[in-house]
Amino acid sequence: MPTHYLSEHDVAVLEIDNPPVNALSLEVRTGLIAGLERAAGDAAVKAVVIAGAGGSFPAGADINEIASGAAFQPPILLDVIARLESLGKPTVAAIEGLALGGGFELALACHARIAAPAARVGLPEVKLGLIPGSGGTQRFTRLAGPQAALEAITSGEQLSAARALTLGLIDAIAAEAPRAAIDCARRLAAEGAPPPASERAQKITGVDPQLFARWRAAHERKFRGQLAPWRIVDAIEAACTRGREEAFQLERQYYLQCRESPQRKALMHVFHAERAARRIPDVGGEVEPLPIRRAGVVGAGTMGAGIAICFASAGIPVTLLDVSPAALESARARIRELYGQSVERGKLTRGQADAAFERISTASRYEALGEVDIAIEAVFEDPALKREVFEKLDRSTPPHAILASNTSTLDIDGLAAATGRPQQVVGTHFFSPAHVMKLMENVRGAASSPRTLLTVMALARRLGKIPVLAGNCDGFIGNRMLQYYGAEAERLLEEGATPEQVDDVIEAFGFAMGPLAMRDLAGNDVGWAIRRNRALPPDERWSPILQRMAEQGRLGRKSGHGFYRYEGGKRRHNPEALALIEAVSRELRVERRSIGEEEILARLLHPLVNEGAKILAEGIASRPGDIDVVYVHGYGFPPYKGGPMYWAEQDGLEKVIATMERLAPSHGMRWRPAPRLIEAAGRGRWS
Ligand code: COA
Repeated sequence: MPTHYLSEHDVAVLEIDNPPVNALSLEVRTGLIAGLERAAGDAAVKAVVIAGAGGSFPAGADINEIASGAAFQPPILLDVIARLESLGKPTVAAIEGLALGGGFELALACHARIAAPAARVGLPEVKLGLIPGSGGTQRFTRLAGPQAALEAITSGEQLSAARALTLGLIDAIAAEAPRAAIDCARRLAAEGAPPPASERAQKITGVDPQLFARWRAAHERKFRGQLAPWRIVDAIEAACTRGREEAFQLERQYYLQCRESPQRKALMHVFHAERAARRIPDVGGEVEPLPIRRAGVVGAGTMGAGIAICFASAGIPVTLLDVSPAALESARARIRELYGQSVERGKLTRGQADAAFERISTASRYEALGEVDIAIEAVFEDPALKREVFEKLDRSTPPHAILASNTSTLDIDGLAAATGRPQQVVGTHFFSPAHVMKLMENVRGAASSPRTLLTVMALARRLGKIPVLAGNCDGFIGNRMLQYYGAEAERLLEEGATPEQVDDVIEAFGFAMGPLAMRDLAGNDVGWAIRRNRALPPDERWSPILQRMAEQGRLGRKSGHGFYRYEGGKRRHNPEALALIEAVSRELRVERRSIGEEEILARLLHPLVNEGAKILAEGIASRPGDIDVVYVHGYGFPPYKGGPMYWAEQDGLEKVIATMERLAPSHGMRWRPAPRLIEAAGRGRWS
């Protein structure tokens, strides 16, 4: 049975036992109701403790039950909570590990909550396109106030036990939480329990009437296009402005609305895709990953410093190596500054930040890497330089060490050939800023061994990253697809669009930044330098716009003007950029026309999907979901649209074919619809 009834004399302990995360499945809920009935009927039982087996409280509703799309089978969590509140005996939650989502809602319905020091609580439903639907928004708001509720529930963040105590969400922290909860239950039975959270106030009073209007205005851009965050704000507002019954009902109504939404489905697709992406189809569990006790990073630029932070923050000592003492010095200063910011923002304590900083040592000679288990090369994207680094790493690191490259496009096999251990060479492509971005695109070389691959997949998780394994090709998964997107933005400009029109369409779709604003941010000289080194098939051409921008010093943000002008950090229309674009149109004898939003979106996103189909056919990505994970976590694709492959499948794969057929005559044979796309469109699904 997934719910055990344990008797502690006068206290009944209901222990939820449903590995791996004690999700509140139908059997768990049925077991809880049965346990509550038994406790109710036993006069010797004076109080009830709810706990989780295996060191964790439930981490939520059963995602698979929600994903099935069918209505929850009774008893639903609301029934369990109603029975809990009508029990007539005090109830206490003993929280160890995680209490998330429905798990935390269950805990919030108890009379008291005792948490272990390392426990974390939260209502992360928003990350799955949902709002808490069993009173979570209402009870949280009653205990911690609307400001804290808005912040925590719209972000879905996990709160430490200490923070939860400060906010009034839990009552005490105890090393032996189950034991302390039993003692607490006994005390409440003897002294009388306080009213549960739902009864603490008919409605919350004393709230600044402007709070919600201000919050909505401040988050307009952040939550644009999304459903769940706005519904959470509505539910919290209802807790403060409506009667209790009505507010609880509204929350349930909003929950059901979100549950039915395409955004919820897309976000759950991403959740499952992230977990599927960890598995390598042809590498089984018989190989153990190499334990990583010490790491080296070569190249103290922005990327190298960011990667060193990832190791240090995960508790792994790391040596940052660069031949330039000046580069090392400025990297140290930058790392110190970043840790300082983490302390200011309350993400780390001063002690944690200092300990992490001390895990980073610097060196300018390769001998310093004599004890590392993995070395990651993060030097300038120059094949000859990278090969030289790999030769040196091969000579200076222990024979068992893995040698990884952070290259975003270069051939991993070429680097492996520079070493005597090609089976231990692999790509680990981090995204900038490396200490923030979640994606780690690991790249499999022809000789990479199963152990090497498993090690970098496991390492990603230890560093708090989301790994995807890509095959070795020019640009791997992410950048190979991206080249079409960037190039097509300029073709749209040539044909009549303005930078604002292009970027607005992409930003309204949900990306934080459109492709031209992105170019300005990265630097148009940088974009042009990368492009200059790439060969195109004879029937394709680049638009000359980017080259002109670079040559005329219109570099983007860093020069104050590019596709836009920048004033005080804000982007503005740039008439000079438009004049340059119009001049290109005239030279190419392209008659400028007005281009609709639908065409802009199709021409930017459909080529991504077509290339994704080729990547799948070539085995560069193992599953369509892997490509989605790469785009959501590395390239700003809105997670609530599920990633490019999922989005295209929902929107209609035949539309992608139509766009590609239209573009191929003017853009080149490579733009023709991929056979894998045509095959999938026939089925209406990728697989
Ligand atoms: N219901 C069912 N299965 C769940 C689940 C849930 N709520 N949460 C996690 N799982 C499963 C995962 O799918 C995974 O299965 P797999 O091993 O077959 O791939 C397994 O539990 C372990 O989860 P994983 O995410 O790999 O572990 P983690 O330690 O990285 O993270 C959590 C654990 C709980 C933080 C994370 O799984 C999570 O955020 N879950 C969702 C929590 C949530 O949103 N709850 C509210 C839902 S309404």
